[in-house]
Amino acid sequence: MTEPTIEDYFLEERTFPPSAEFAAAALVSDDSLHREADADFEAFWARQARELLSWSRDFDTILEWELPDAKWFVGGELNVSANCLDRHVAAGIGDRIAYHWEGEPGDTRTITYADLLAEVQRFANVLRSLGVERGDRVAIYMPMIPELPVAMLACARLGAAHSVIFGGFSPDSITDRVQDGGCKVIVTADGGYRRGAASLLKPNVDAAVDQCPTVSAVVVVERTGSPVTMVDGRDHWYHELMAAADPVCAPEAMGSEDLLFLLYTSGTTAKPKGIMHTTGGYLTQVAFSYKYVFDLKPETDVYWCSADIGWVTGHSYIVYGPLANGATSVLYEGTPDTPGRDRMWDIVERYGVTQLYTAPTAIRTFMKWGAQEPARHDLSSLRLLGTVGEPINPEAWMWYHEHIGGGRCPIVDTWWQTETGGQMITPLPGVTATKPGSATFPLPGIGVEVVDEEGNRIEQGGGYLTLTRPWPSMLRGIWGDHDRYESTYWSQYPGRYFAGDGAKIDADGYLWLLGRVDDVMNVSGHRISTTEVESALVDHHAVAEAAVVGASDDVTGQAIVGYVIIRNDAVASEELVAELRQHVATKIGPTARPKRVIIVPDLPKTRSGKIMRRLLRDVAEGRDLGDTTTLADPTVVEAIRDSAANGPGSAA
Ligand code: PRX
Repeated sequence: MTEPTIEDYFLEERTFPPSAEFAAAALVSDDSLHREADADFEAFWARQARELLSWSRDFDTILEWELPDAKWFVGGELNVSANCLDRHVAAGIGDRIAYHWEGEPGDTRTITYADLLAEVQRFANVLRSLGVERGDRVAIYMPMIPELPVAMLACARLGAAHSVIFGGFSPDSITDRVQDGGCKVIVTADGGYRRGAASLLKPNVDAAVDQCPTVSAVVVVERTGSPVTMVDGRDHWYHELMAAADPVCAPEAMGSEDLLFLLYTSGTTAKPKGIMHTTGGYLTQVAFSYKYVFDLKPETDVYWCSADIGWVTGHSYIVYGPLANGATSVLYEGTPDTPGRDRMWDIVERYGVTQLYTAPTAIRTFMKWGAQEPARHDLSSLRLLGTVGEPINPEAWMWYHEHIGGGRCPIVDTWWQTETGGQMITPLPGVTATKPGSATFPLPGIGVEVVDEEGNRIEQGGGYLTLTRPWPSMLRGIWGDHDRYESTYWSQYPGRYFAGDGAKIDADGYLWLLGRVDDVMNVSGHRISTTEVESALVDHHAVAEAAVVGASDDVTGQAIVGYVIIRNDAVASEELVAELRQHVATKIGPTARPKRVIIVPDLPKTRSGKIMRRLLRDVAEGRDLGDTTTLADPTVVEAIRDSAANGPGSAA
């Protein structure tokens, strides 16, 4: 027998089939879509493309595939903004609300599809007047205000690609991205509200733009009224240009393979990659997945994705997926703890949110804040919950299920990436019996296999997650670097896309994501996933959040070090540390017993909420810290160092 690629310890046996009531009303309640796609995946996607979207010219060829380059729906023409706006207004639903927007200070705006179409046409004319043409790139650096989707859709209307840069990024990061993409215009705002205060954006653009020779104009939305410097001839107020703009702008007919947007993935070390997404295939898969994974009933649902539009989740599941389907969404500007730790639940209650899509890191934070926060609100409008962004620990899944979902809502744990454009592995809520912590099965049309080191398919057990065939919303490349595209994604295992994630398949064929493969530890020759040890730690009642790393160890190769945030009602002590180490050994097995467990006040996270294990490894190995510029809060590392040196567990 060969050695297992990643060992499989954690056994989760609870299953949650959809209730009979949910299944009876669901858009999909049997395996017909999966069967159709298995028979002919190209024909399946072609049907979705024609049924879900409006094409001004039908396509001639469904797929041209020359590994690693895919072209979907070749010869077809469409405009993304027309699909998201014009056709809904033409169909008589212009009065339907596209966004219930809520600012952090509590100000609100209700934006219908007709309102959005009017604003997008005007802003497309504004961009055109600033010299933006079909084929250009426009950078967008904005808070979560309605003008952000307006700017994206206006680009799409003109056939210019947008490059949205998350509002938390520094001037240097803006410069890198704007330069790499050769953007002509930057759309920004004076600032936005976060944690009860105005956080400024325009000064970052000012600092960046001097290094960006391709930028000829900056458009500034007035959001906070904070004083900003406006450079004559270069900087323009959004409201002034809008007031003067022509209200009508016809959508450009774009080729299916024309660039829709660039979105940079923040690699922790190397230069960020400008991930390229195109028009017809991208919109088909996000429209399809949005509709069926969230079981959309557009007349009655109020959907809320709490991500930032600056990440791919926001692109696909706040902007394009919902709007292509004529859905009504909540759009919230601020943080979940302002003014109180129940802000999310207050919003759910007031708008009658039916589907909530959020990240495991947020759920663990809510757990730490305690169940009394959601308990103060009526959450009975919720009928479905979703998660995305990282593996969800079974305990966090159960907490979400009980305290947010009231035990009645199916949870869709959706695995995908910036590169995949849309959801890839997820339950279908009316069909799949879920298991807490498993993303379950590929969507219809998607080919997933887990392979070992040599690329041989694994039927059961742990290995590397690969995708076996092209999918419509796949990345079309890395902007300006085709070789890097091929070598990063398509060369590890010939003929397969390698996602960089570990995964395992259980005896029932369920997929369990195990995190990035660089996060796999090797302890005395056992390959153990950080995700599984983290799940075991979070399983203990005192633990709110955990991050596990392998630190080099003379004896065992690597030793497991766990950093834990404890719940508000737990007390840090040597006894607790000992108990936690034992808990992991009991849950998973003695090989996985952490050598050290360190109780910390906070964990280092990127601005998208992913734990930066590299920094925790540096602390565990007593090294100087590497690059900390992508940290959301650089001060947490000092606090962690202090806990590691002086807190409970420091003597271990
Ligand atoms: O490691 C996987 C993890 O997030 C990575 C993709 O990150 P990003 O491109 O920032 O996109 C996040 C939003 C789609 C993946 O390679 N990931 C994402 N969703 C899940 C996940 N890991 C486990 N379970 C998920 N549901």
